[in-house]
Amino acid sequence: MKTVRLGLVAALLSGIVPCFPATAQDSADAKAAATEAKMTDVERFQLLHGIMPIAIPGLPPIPPGLKSTAGFVRGIPRLGIPDIYESDASLGVVNPLQSRKGDISTALPSSLLLAATFSPDLAFASGALAGNEARSKGFNVLLAGGVNLARDPRNGRNFEYAGEDPLLAGTIAGASISGVQSEHVVSTVKHFALNDQETLRQSIDARIEEKPFRESDLLAFEIAIDRGHPGAVMCAYNQVNGAYACGSDFLLNKVLKADWKYPGWVMSDWGAVHDVSYFAKGLDQQSGAQLDKETYFDKPLQDEVAAGRVPKARVSDAVRRILRSLYAVGADAPLRERPIDFAAHANAVRKIADAGIVLLKNEGGILPLAANAKSIAVIGGHADVGVISGGGSSQVTPAGQVLLLPLGGRGIMSNWSKILYMPSSPLKALQAALPRTNIEFDSGYVPEEAAAFAAHSDLAIVFATQWQSEGVDGSLTLPEGQDALIDAVATANPNTIVVLETGNPVKMPWLGKVKGVLEAWYPGQGGGEAIADVLTGAVNPGGRLPISFPTDEKDLPRRTIPGLGLPEKTALPIDYDEGANVGYKWYAAKGVKPLFAFGEGLSYTRFAHSGLKISGGSDPSVTLTVKNIGERSGFDVPQAYLVSINGKPVRRLIGFSRVELAPGQSRTVTMKVDRRLLADWTDKGWAIAGGQYDIATGQSALDLDEVMSVKLAAQMVSR
Ligand code: BGC
Repeated sequence: MKTVRLGLVAALLSGIVPCFPATAQDSADAKAAATEAKMTDVERFQLLHGIMPIAIPGLPPIPPGLKSTAGFVRGIPRLGIPDIYESDASLGVVNPLQSRKGDISTALPSSLLLAATFSPDLAFASGALAGNEARSKGFNVLLAGGVNLARDPRNGRNFEYAGEDPLLAGTIAGASISGVQSEHVVSTVKHFALNDQETLRQSIDARIEEKPFRESDLLAFEIAIDRGHPGAVMCAYNQVNGAYACGSDFLLNKVLKADWKYPGWVMSDWGAVHDVSYFAKGLDQQSGAQLDKETYFDKPLQDEVAAGRVPKARVSDAVRRILRSLYAVGADAPLRERPIDFAAHANAVRKIADAGIVLLKNEGGILPLAANAKSIAVIGGHADVGVISGGGSSQVTPAGQVLLLPLGGRGIMSNWSKILYMPSSPLKALQAALPRTNIEFDSGYVPEEAAAFAAHSDLAIVFATQWQSEGVDGSLTLPEGQDALIDAVATANPNTIVVLETGNPVKMPWLGKVKGVLEAWYPGQGGGEAIADVLTGAVNPGGRLPISFPTDEKDLPRRTIPGLGLPEKTALPIDYDEGANVGYKWYAAKGVKPLFAFGEGLSYTRFAHSGLKISGGSDPSVTLTVKNIGERSGFDVPQAYLVSINGKPVRRLIGFSRVELAPGQSRTVTMKVDRRLLADWTDKGWAIAGGQYDIATGQSALDLDEVMSVKLAAQMVSR
């Protein structure tokens, strides 16, 4: 398997995502209890709330001397408890609103691209890279680990999350969290739970029955927590079944702390606390408190404790949870700034981008680009300047001359509403890779002119971009008339290839007219070069879709985004009637064919699968042999799906792998199956009903080949 060399984390790229051993956890707990016992009440309450130290017009001034960042909680030097400096980091360490002059970080590709690699190793490496830069800049907590399921392909933050399947999303997020924490930085997992749309995110009530909830969004969190052991969980803005997520006794006390025995702390999202009672419901720390009406977890909480309405033991519990998570990963070590190996990191993120770009169409083998093409017209997408990125609190500022376009808008999120182009030009990368070809650029601003230009070239490549951001949901239609541009170019030149740089799936009304389509997502700071790598065949594409691409809105569980256009904070219930049938499960259940299915993605070589074997018992697994039967080295991503239980159809990804094979080479791959994926959630917990389980392997969730049955005994699945 291809791995990324990161210098500092190279030793960790063994294919095994480490867990923190029980003894380290135990000693972290013991140390936390000992420190907490020495604290005064004033010190205890001090750890239970933080601020957002960013100067924003209209908000209270920030105490002097603090680094501008998303979160800060004052430490207690006499007990060796450091200041807690929190940075956003879904896609690298954020310099919020470019407020720390000249402070740049390595900009990772979007989490959807990372999920498209189907590679926990690369996810670990990307987390370790962000963790390394965070610690080097003096941060000890990263607000990373986004694992909300892509319940709606228009959710504006899907690019910060890891797709629509609980196993894939939980595995990728868990590995990335583990990577962050390997650098002695606590990572969160967020946003717990069902913050699955941005429209009215502070007031919607996401409603779902417990069984499908446990089998979908909660399962993604459960897997991410099992694998990554994040020190903190960030609860979400929205309500879940009638209670705000940060004040949900069910989510925090029952599911997280009682059922999952989660030992770390729960921090709120910024501006998500509406009442002091949330503390009793399981919230341990109020973040960015100046965004709430009150610093509830300061004086109001002290009053609750003094009046005997909240036991003192609960305060000790919250404090210990914070401390044990800092100790468990060594995040309490003094914060010292140190140099960063940006060159090694640049190399690493380009490799991740190489691995997660998905080839969706390649008619007549138009790709890879022939080295003898005389002329190529590159059109649109500001491909002469760079590659687009997503907006909101995760936006990273990389080195170099970025193109920054503030969009403005309404509300506090308008401060974060900026389109940023990473200075990594696909045009320049293509020109460098194909020096004998005449490659020229047209902005695509005037489709007629772009089409006329394309008509005189051997081949046209149209770059289409879609900006998505926290705080606003998107559309399945490419913005700014780009569909018409692609159509006009493809009409003028049948040898047209489209490169999509999108945060989310888009419709492709022009699909039948173009010969090639590449989904490059937000490919990060090495994106231009990575796109050129794949177009020219320097890299054989090995990405697979972590999210289904619908043909039309009418095929979605909800035709429009609920609440679109309603005033901010309008209370709105949303019934998730599709239950656990998110993404491909929905299409399979409805018998609807999406434009492109989850798991889909082409290669410049071909693979054959044989020798399927399934073993049941207490350690179930799926084994098959993968052979490269083409002419180039490449990556295959074999996938295993549960397709029926006792004759009743289901569709669940239960295993996947990513293998690199030279021509003619074959490898036998064993995918261990998490028994929760064979089980149903019942009143008593995860239960395997027993009987006949049909399992299929295939190229995507909807393109399955061999099916094999296995008999399983009825059993409960314990944690
Ligand atoms: C986002 C979080 C982020 C926090 C701090 C919130 O608006 O939802 O993901 O970590 O801000 O910036």
